[in-house]
Amino acid sequence: MKNVIVLGAQWGDEGKGKIVDLLCPAFDNVVRFQGGHNAGHTVRFADRHFSLHLVPSGILHSGVDCFLGPGMVIAPDALNTELASLAEAGVDTTGRLFISDRAQVILPTHASLDQAREEASSGRIGTTARGIGPAYEMRAARCGVRMGELDAELLEQRLRVQHMRIMPELDHLGVDGMPRPSELMALCRTWADELGGRVIDVSARLAEKMAAGERILFEGAQGALLDVDHGTYPFVTSSTPTAGGVAAGAGVAPTRLDATIGVLKAYTTRVGGGPFPTELEGDVAEFLRDRGNEFGTTTGRPRRCGWLDIVAARYAHRLNAFDALALTKLDVLDDLDEIQLCTGYRYQGEVIEDFPSSLAVLEAAEPIYRRVEGWRAATTGVTRIDDLPLAARRFVEVVEELVGAPAMMVSTGARREETILVDPLAERLLGDRLSSVLEHRDGKAGV
Ligand code: IMP
Repeated sequence: MKNVIVLGAQWGDEGKGKIVDLLCPAFDNVVRFQGGHNAGHTVRFADRHFSLHLVPSGILHSGVDCFLGPGMVIAPDALNTELASLAEAGVDTTGRLFISDRAQVILPTHASLDQAREEASSGRIGTTARGIGPAYEMRAARCGVRMGELDAELLEQRLRVQHMRIMPELDHLGVDGMPRPSELMALCRTWADELGGRVIDVSARLAEKMAAGERILFEGAQGALLDVDHGTYPFVTSSTPTAGGVAAGAGVAPTRLDATIGVLKAYTTRVGGGPFPTELEGDVAEFLRDRGNEFGTTTGRPRRCGWLDIVAARYAHRLNAFDALALTKLDVLDDLDEIQLCTGYRYQGEVIEDFPSSLAVLEAAEPIYRRVEGWRAATTGVTRIDDLPLAARRFVEVVEELVGAPAMMVSTGARREETILVDPLAERLLGDRLSSVLEHRDGKAGV
């Protein structure tokens, strides 16, 4: 499988960063295709810890080139900060991190608008307040600024149109002190100087790489239930983190995409507002939050926690047709006597097994649970499926059966060493590069 997609199967924060990092030795390139610095990826190994937002985890592997694709929205200051902290940690990004000339720019006015809307409105989305939504709005309104246009002649005109659209709302929300178009223009020119050397036609470069036989990993941010069309609208992000978004967001033909891995956490979390049928309150929620360290990488917000929602996972599988699952955070469930899996919802006396589109139905839906025996034993650091306690293996099998997709990886801790790769599926997807992935997991290769 040359070109593989890794996607979130829930509401984000499934542990995609760790999975992508682990798989990197099997690929020559990593591409992000949607979202921006609303994402937060954590990579831990040995005694090192990296928090990445815009830059793909592939950057930690010196042989891997990284791309920020055309479907992304990019805040140049945030990118500069991330590049500086990578440089400080000794990670060389020169000639390895490229930005699409078609990616949209997040301006300071977008972030201010996002923030002011969140502070003002009664039905808050609970966004990351990074300006993601407003930047995508400008793209759809055809007055966005693209990374390849930071010093173009048309810049002034675009910024004036944006100003006309955004300022009335900012005034209405009582926000003042916003930069004028001329100030934004100066800022854009500075960014062009700082980042211009990395701006390329990503779609064209990826086509060359595919022609040369290189392998590409497409790294999703957020998750299927946050998809702007298919998620719990309007409590969604403004991009397409499902498989359908990969081709559009990277500028690659869908026929070139070979396989999709869905990252599924052994329980569910959500940050921000919106329906969450299996949400828990009380002891179990506290337990999951503490044990799973469920606090946002980007905003530090405590995540809402609940049982694994199979209805939602099956829906994500329908949208994405996962060839394999990466089941993460199994170890977080270690001390529980019993675990619940939500296999359906009850709504007005009816049983629903398909994820509904209606917000009202989702909000009123009562989960129907299937109880699974806990294993009450430590799985942290287990690297072979056969070494899992019997009840933990059974849990993995039940999830596979209910979702309808096989697990290729099971994560048993935050560190890359703490991961099970399940054969023969891992071999089918990674081919002759599986051994490099295993060496990397065991600390014998890579950074
Ligand atoms: P936005 O993407 O900042 O517009 O936020 C929209 C919704 O997506 C909010 O509920 C956020 O909490 C959620 N969201 C955005 N990015 C992430 C992420 O990386 N992980 C989890 N939730 C996210």
